[in-house]
Amino acid sequence: MYPPVPLPRGGGVHGAELPPGRPDLAAGGRLVVKRRLRSTPTIGIVGVGYMGIATGLAFAHRGIRVYGYDRSARVRAAVARGVSPYREAGLAELLRAERRRGRFSVVESVEQLVALADLLFLCVPTPPRRDGAVDLRPLRLAAKEVGTAVRGVSGPRVVVVKSTVVPGTTEATVAPILRRSSGRGPRLLGVAVNPEFLSEGRMVRDALSPERIVIGTSDARTARWLRRVYARFPAPVVELTMNEAELVKHASNAFLALKVSYANELSRWTERMGGDVDAVTAAVGADPRIGPAFLNAGPGFGGSCFDKDLRAFVRRGEEVGAPARTARAALDVNDEQTKHAFELVRSAAAPLRGKAVAVLGLAFKVGTDDVRESRAFPIVQRLVADGARVRLHDPVARRNFEREWRRRHGGASGRVGFSSTVAGALRGADVAVLQAEWPEYIRWSSAWSRSMRRPVLVDLRRAIPAAVALRTGLEVVALGVGCPPAPTRAGNGRRARRRTA
Ligand code: UDX
Repeated sequence: MYPPVPLPRGGGVHGAELPPGRPDLAAGGRLVVKRRLRSTPTIGIVGVGYMGIATGLAFAHRGIRVYGYDRSARVRAAVARGVSPYREAGLAELLRAERRRGRFSVVESVEQLVALADLLFLCVPTPPRRDGAVDLRPLRLAAKEVGTAVRGVSGPRVVVVKSTVVPGTTEATVAPILRRSSGRGPRLLGVAVNPEFLSEGRMVRDALSPERIVIGTSDARTARWLRRVYARFPAPVVELTMNEAELVKHASNAFLALKVSYANELSRWTERMGGDVDAVTAAVGADPRIGPAFLNAGPGFGGSCFDKDLRAFVRRGEEVGAPARTARAALDVNDEQTKHAFELVRSAAAPLRGKAVAVLGLAFKVGTDDVRESRAFPIVQRLVADGARVRLHDPVARRNFEREWRRRHGGASGRVGFSSTVAGALRGADVAVLQAEWPEYIRWSSAWSRSMRRPVLVDLRRAIPAAVALRTGLEVVALGVGCPPAPTRAGNGRRARRRTA
């Protein structure tokens, strides 16, 4: 399903693999590691989730000895067998390769991890709380466990916060926990922040070849160790304070979300005033000060990061008296855009009550089976609330969506059904909605159009080429594409968006 990810050359070019330290039990039961720090520190990953495993494997690929620990015995067992616990392009291949080279393995306890690794990367989740703040419990627990384990070993250690946290968290929360639980000061226990910028569907690629590496450190030795590790990556290293490094992560996500929201606002202009939003954003993005990336209008941004991180950023801004008004605006525009996407479907079905609607693409974006914050949820919810019958399809995310839908809405709903084929979802539909542009949808077939009661597709990503629509007899209502308003109704903004008939 996923294209192979080309691995950059040069993994391990910086010399031989480092011999792992051997933990021995000394008198009194203290775990002692007889190991001198060689040219590159060894790495421990606390939390082998999507981000932790991609990060750890990227270090391993660069020739560093990496150990991982996860609370979940299922995850540990899978990784120990060389089986990737997650679906992510290139992950399974990289895991197999690095296990074969003996550079990536899992251990059974935090104590073992701390005994074997010099640098401990905290890669645990920071899920959202209801009030918009971040739930720091997993991070606090990980810090406490690592700190306590540090008591049992000799030699300095560095703990690196990779999980996304709002500015000030590492200094005010994580470092004090580490100090208390380890009984160590900065001389023997360094603390650092090193945010990740991994995008789902291309996590492996992003981890192996980052655009830039941001590190915020508490002291000179910590900075030196991290510099040694990252010297193996062909990317600029930006050294900051811990607070600054935490801010870079949130500022980057907020800016990207803002770009998406900006394009989404423009899509409503082009629909009302006439024009194609892609033509406009291409010209806007051609200015190198703006750049073309993240200007694709759609049904609103989803995923586990943008919404959660922006809410936490806005909240933190209020707390510290530095309001993040543009991030707040991006969240508001996002909600409006999803409502607008639904309105396009409603007017295409006119009315929705009793109509059959096929929703194609349930993942929050293509290239992943992740459905967290997918715009498909609010769209399907509204369709059902307006009396439509909905049939859903996604080539990889269907099961995840179905599980989450049932969790939220209880058992089976007579009005929502799942289909394992596109043809099954479309048969008899009055209107179809393209929420995520999987390649198989783009190869639309005439048979699909014929099988629908009315061959109308609301294309929320402008993915179906006009020629394909013409050839297959499909009428496309494209988000962000409009005809100019009729002169007599100028200013009234007639919404004419049928691109192909
Ligand atoms: C994002 C950041 O890109 C990444 O750096 C960070 O570490 C985590 O959050 P991710 O959530 O994987 O990564 O998805 P991303 O590719 O950024 O897309 C987020 C959402 O924005 C998706 O729903 C996507 O469909 C939408 N999007 C993105 C658009 O609608 N238009 C665009 O031009 C780009």
